[in-house]
Amino acid sequence: MADQPILLDVQNLRKTFRVGRGKTLYAVDDVSFAIRRGETLGLVGESGCGKTTVGRTLVRLYTPDAGKILLDGEDIAGYTARQIRKAHLPRRMQMIFQDPYASLNPYFTVGEIIGEGLELHHIGKNREERMERVYALLDQVGLHREHANRFPHEFSGGQRQRVGIARALAMDPEFIVCDEATSALDVSVQAQVMNMLIDLKKERNLTYLVVAHDLSLVRFISDRVAVMYLGKIVEIGDVRSVYDTPRHPYTIGLLDAVPVADPDYEATHDVRLMQGDIGSPINPGPGCRFASRCPYATEQCRRETPPLASAGGDHSVACFHPVV
Ligand SMILES: Nc1ncnc2c1ncn2[C@@H]1O[C@H](COP(=O)(O)OP(=O)(O)OP(=O)(O)O)[C@@H](O)[C@H]1O
Ligand SMILES: [Mg+2]
Repeated sequence: MADQPILLDVQNLRKTFRVGRGKTLYAVDDVSFAIRRGETLGLVGESGCGKTTVGRTLVRLYTPDAGKILLDGEDIAGYTARQIRKAHLPRRMQMIFQDPYASLNPYFTVGEIIGEGLELHHIGKNREERMERVYALLDQVGLHREHANRFPHEFSGGQRQRVGIARALAMDPEFIVCDEATSALDVSVQAQVMNMLIDLKKERNLTYLVVAHDLSLVRFISDRVAVMYLGKIVEIGDVRSVYDTPRHPYTIGLLDAVPVADPDYEATHDVRLMQGDIGSPINPGPGCRFASRCPYATEQCRRETPPLASAGGDHSVACFHPVV
């Protein structure tokens, strides 16, 4: 994978939200990472750390406050709605949403939902050709052509998620953000949909950003993984390296929180990690955002923001005192 060209190069990305009088919520704060063509980057971290905001900003559903998003070397961060259309960004980048029920228009049939983008972007010569394409997509995600005339509420959760996937695939994108694409599903259906996403990736040479709470799932499907904490990437690298030798106290705490069937577990692990308050992304002060919860925090950690620095090979960590 390391020999593949970089598809997305994200530099110092920031996305804030105004929340009440004079308050600014730093959902994504000075985040940098790159994704190579054909790669799957996993994105993990506790609820509210900014994963969905990263995804939505990358595919330009949000406009970032600052930073660059280089897509094949072209900075799309500041594109206007018109430039986004002109550059065919929706054809190149798609998102599968966290909540398929909320993201599918209930008044549209599944055929209309999947075909909408085709029509909007003038893909296919006429209605018949577009419908044929919709049928082929339904088939590809394990649904039937009869399903095209039904409405979202007539489907199960797993089927609805497949509709969301078919809608994303319809544009034949190069890059897909999968935001908790399977977390609302039963474990068995989860595996089916995940395996389908893996197969589609191989068939179509896709590049993925996969957001998920399930750390074992992320390990299974990702080449690299990024760990976020309150708007910042605190650790990133090759999946094996990050999971086997995590360096940031937060990553260690996160991995330790995965349930294991071992009565001696607490005796061998530092259970002090992950205690205390998660802190707030609103008007954050200086210093490491994990400092309030970190048993190793020093004065420097409370004063300065640790930069993301190489920890050897393809593994970087933002910590003044990385664990060895
Ligand atoms: N449109 C918005 N307006 C104001 N604040 C927002 C908005 N969207 C997200 N936020 C805030 O930004 C922060 C990051 O939210 P985001 O949805 O990106 O988190 P997440 O990591 O995807 O969480 P989860 O795992 O629960 O999906 C949160 O504090 C959230 O409350
Ligand atoms: Mg989210």
